[in-house]
Amino acid sequence: MAEKRKFRVGLGVAGGIAAYKAIEVLRLLQKNDCDVQVAMTKHATEFIQPLTFRALSENYVLVDDYAPENPDPIAHINFSQNIDLLLIVPATANLIAKFANGIADDFLSSTYLASNAPVMIAPAMNTTMWNHLATQRNIERLKADGVHFVEPIAGELACKTVGTGKLEDVENIAAQVLQILGSRFEVSGSKFDNGSANNFEPETLNLKPQDLLGERILVTVGGTREAIDPVRFISNHSSGKMGFAVAEAAQKRGAKVTVVCGATSVAPPENVEVVKAISAEEMFRAVMMKLPETSIFIGAAAVADYRPRTIEDFKIKKTDQDILILELEKTPDILSNVSNNRHDGLLVVGFAAETNDVVGYAKSKLAKKNLDLVVANDITQPGAGFNTDTNIAAIITRDHEIELPLMSKRELADKILDEVVKFRQVSKL
Ligand code: PMT
Repeated sequence: MAEKRKFRVGLGVAGGIAAYKAIEVLRLLQKNDCDVQVAMTKHATEFIQPLTFRALSENYVLVDDYAPENPDPIAHINFSQNIDLLLIVPATANLIAKFANGIADDFLSSTYLASNAPVMIAPAMNTTMWNHLATQRNIERLKADGVHFVEPIAGELACKTVGTGKLEDVENIAAQVLQILGSRFEVSGSKFDNGSANNFEPETLNLKPQDLLGERILVTVGGTREAIDPVRFISNHSSGKMGFAVAEAAQKRGAKVTVVCGATSVAPPENVEVVKAISAEEMFRAVMMKLPETSIFIGAAAVADYRPRTIEDFKIKKTDQDILILELEKTPDILSNVSNNRHDGLLVVGFAAETNDVVGYAKSKLAKKNLDLVVANDITQPGAGFNTDTNIAAIITRDHEIELPLMSKRELADKILDEVVKFRQVSKL
C-alpha cells in the first residue's frame, strides 16, 4: 500500500476581526491529515500574534520576506511551490483586490502570484465593503481565474451591522478545502472522496459532508400567533426546535439557509438568515418573497389553519354572557401555495403533525399538497412532537417510506436531509 501522504496547505491570514477563526480552521485541517504552514499579512499580526500559529502549526510563520529572522531567503517561492492548496482565512477586501490585480507588495500577495496550487478564499468584511461594486468585480475576476470562494454568510457582524459579510462556518471552510484536495488527488476513504484511489483516511469526525453545497434552503419554523385583540392570540405549542434543527443541519452541510420563524422558545442556530413572521399571513408573505431564490422549501412550522375573522382594535371586555363566540376564517396554506407555484428544480418538503393514523394522513397530505417528501410525526407519543428535544417520525415519499425510532431532533434533521440529497441525486439522473 502506498505511503500515506499528508496534504500541504498554505494558510494565509489577512487583517480582519475574523482572523482568530483561522486558528480553528488550522486545527480542523490538522485533524484531517493536513500539514499547515501559515503566512500572515502585517495587519493580521495586529489581531493575532504569529507565535500562536507558529506553536500550533510547528512551522515558522511568514509575514515579511525581508525580516532578519526569516530562515528562508526566497521564502515566497519555496512556500508557494510546496503547497497543495492556498487557503485565505479571512480574506479582506484589500487582499482580494490585490489578488485580482496581480499586486504583489507583501509576502502573502507575492505567494499568490508565485503559486500554481488551487486557491480558496474565505472572505469576511463589513456588508457595505462586501457589496461594493469594486469588491464584487474583483471577486468575479478571481472566479474567472479559477479561484474558489467560500462565500461569507449573513449575520450580525463585529461592527454590529446585520448583513452579509460574516466568515462562513469554520467546519464548512475546512470541509470544502478537503473536498478540493480530495478530488484533486483522487483520495478515497473520506466522506469527501470521489471514490477512486487508495491511501487517504482522514479523520472526518468533526466535519460534515458538503452535500448541500449550492442549495438555498428556506425553512419555516415555530408556531404562528393569530391575534384576537391587542392582548390575546390563538397559537400552539411549537418551540421551533425541529425547524431550527433542520436549519442547522442544512447549514453545516453547505447550504445557504433562511429561516422564516414565528413564535419560538429557543434561539435560532448560528449562520442562518432569520426572518421574523408572527402570523400565518406574515409567514406566507415572507415565504413567497424568498421563494424565487429558494431551491429547497421545508415547512416545519405549525401554522394556524384558522384565524379570527376580525381583530378587535380594543381589548375584548368580559360581559355577563357565559359564552363568547369567535368567528374564524381560513389562513393561506403556505405549503400548498409553495408547491403550486414551484419553479423548476424546487423541492418541497412538508411536515405532518398527526394524532392518529399518522402515515395514512401524512400520505394524503403528500398527495393533496403536491409534496416531494413529508415528515410525519405522531404528536401523542412521549418524546415526540411539540417542544421536545426528540422526535419519532416517518419520512414518506411517493415511492417509499422510512419509519424511524425515537432520536434527537438534530439526528432526525440529518436523516431528513439524507433523503433530500437522495431525491436530488435521483432527479438529476
Ligand atoms: O417546533 P417544535 O416544538 O420542535 O415542534 C415540531 C413540530 C411538531 C411543530 C413539527 O415537527 C411539525 O410537525 N410541524 C408541522 C406542524 C403542522 O402544522 O402540521 P399540519 O399537519 O397542521 O400541517 C402540514 C404542513 O402544512 C406543515 O408542513 C405545515 O407547516 C404546513 N402548513 C399548514 C397550514 C398552513 N396554513 N400553512 C402551511 O404551510
